[in-house]
Amino acid sequence: MTVGFEVRQSDGAARLGDLPVPGFDQPIETPALLPVINPNITMLSAADIVDEFDPEVLITNAYVIYQSDELKSKALSEGVHGLLDVDLPVMTDSGSFQLAEYGSISVGNDEIVTFQSAIGSNIVTPVDLPTPPDAPRSVANEELSTTISRIEAAREHIDTDRLLSGPVQGGGYHELRHRAGMRARQTGADIYPIGAVVPLMEAYRFDTLVDVVVAAKRGLGPDAPVHLFGAGHPMMFALAAALGCDLFDSAAYALYARDGRYLTPTGTYRMDEIDFLPCACPICAQHDAVTLAGNERLLARHNLHVSFAEVRRIKQAIRQGSLFELLDIRSRSHPDLLDGYRRLLQHDTFLERHDRAIKSTFMYVSAESAHRPEVNRHHWRLRDWTVEGDVLLASSGIHLEDRYDVRWEIRPPFGPVPPGLDHTYPLSAEIPDRLDTAAYEQAVEGIRALSHGSTDAHLTLAHGDWPATALDRLPDAIETVRVE
Ligand code: GUN
Ligand code: ZN
Repeated sequence: MTVGFEVRQSDGAARLGDLPVPGFDQPIETPALLPVINPNITMLSAADIVDEFDPEVLITNAYVIYQSDELKSKALSEGVHGLLDVDLPVMTDSGSFQLAEYGSISVGNDEIVTFQSAIGSNIVTPVDLPTPPDAPRSVANEELSTTISRIEAAREHIDTDRLLSGPVQGGGYHELRHRAGMRARQTGADIYPIGAVVPLMEAYRFDTLVDVVVAAKRGLGPDAPVHLFGAGHPMMFALAAALGCDLFDSAAYALYARDGRYLTPTGTYRMDEIDFLPCACPICAQHDAVTLAGNERLLARHNLHVSFAEVRRIKQAIRQGSLFELLDIRSRSHPDLLDGYRRLLQHDTFLERHDRAIKSTFMYVSAESAHRPEVNRHHWRLRDWTVEGDVLLASSGIHLEDRYDVRWEIRPPFGPVPPGLDHTYPLSAEIPDRLDTAAYEQAVEGIRALSHGSTDAHLTLAHGDWPATALDRLPDAIETVRVE
């Protein structure tokens, strides 16, 4: 049975939502970061993390607990909450990741699902089959079917006061991810992790990641709460959120600390190369780089501070409608991340389905801004407008009225501004005077959209030296006048 995941606000496909968990008064507020707790490693315990970071929900691995006699008997007698000494929702993973890493695990689906139920997990995960992104289609297809039947079997083994996670597999095949999303949704699971994406993230294949998530989301539909399995580094959280991922689990804080690596929202430093700490968290305010370099626990705490701060930044951006500006900044952290952002912008119908109509201010801060959903939406709307007679299309500084019946302002990247709408969102955008080619090219797309329905009009574009790549796209019937 699907619980009532409620979306309060959205930006791109990102949303601020509430996910109720049986037994807890407070819903999980999403997007939420689930710190990964390894119960074998006490360097930074779950209780320490709860004290310092107040997370919404934790994730730990039921298979790791199951394999250790000591952890297993404690979990069975005190529950997973007693084992971790916490009183907040706990999600458990099943051992599928170990299955993917080591080729086999020593427990079956029913057994580990029943165990998760017995230790009181709030979100139970079946043993899905994480198909690597480059596996053959036939393998991906077969494994996704096995995964679906394991979700269905898990449903039979857990009581209704637990949430069931229904992983979406399908390897690197969009139509399989789409189908996996649809079929997972039909099982009536409560949250939907997108699986086997760690290899994509580790290889910085963010453009492929975008395609995989979009395909899965299309199959799942807009109201399914979605988890991105193993989304580790905070520099990609904004991209994951913009794709419509509501939950991310991260072991990166601990794994990176173990390797002496210092996370920032835009990348990573090795502790042996950093002298000055560019972070305002309490750890960095009170310690210097040398101290952090020699103290894995401090480094892990800094890494978690950065990760949680990024999630708060994303939530605030969604609230005020500035997630694309944040994405723009984050995508400058690494060329592969920029590829991911550009790929996301190409999924215009997907974004259009989710993006909300009114936000705060649209800030044009890069050529990518020209491809934001607001610009495409304006172009789609222009197709419904018609103009007649001799029409002048001119930028705000250009006036040749006398010879024309009507004048429409042209505002790159939007193109024609319908009369009376110039102060409305998104046409009220803050736009720099010095624009890139993409803005003019998109303005021409807007002109094409307006001319589409205006067959009785004669259009003239008066411009001040627009680039040829934009002008070349104008329909032949449109006259141009260059104004100095
Ligand atoms: N952790 C990271 N990736 C996966 C996955 O595909 N499935 C499960 N169950 N856990 C994961
Ligand atoms: Zn810090």
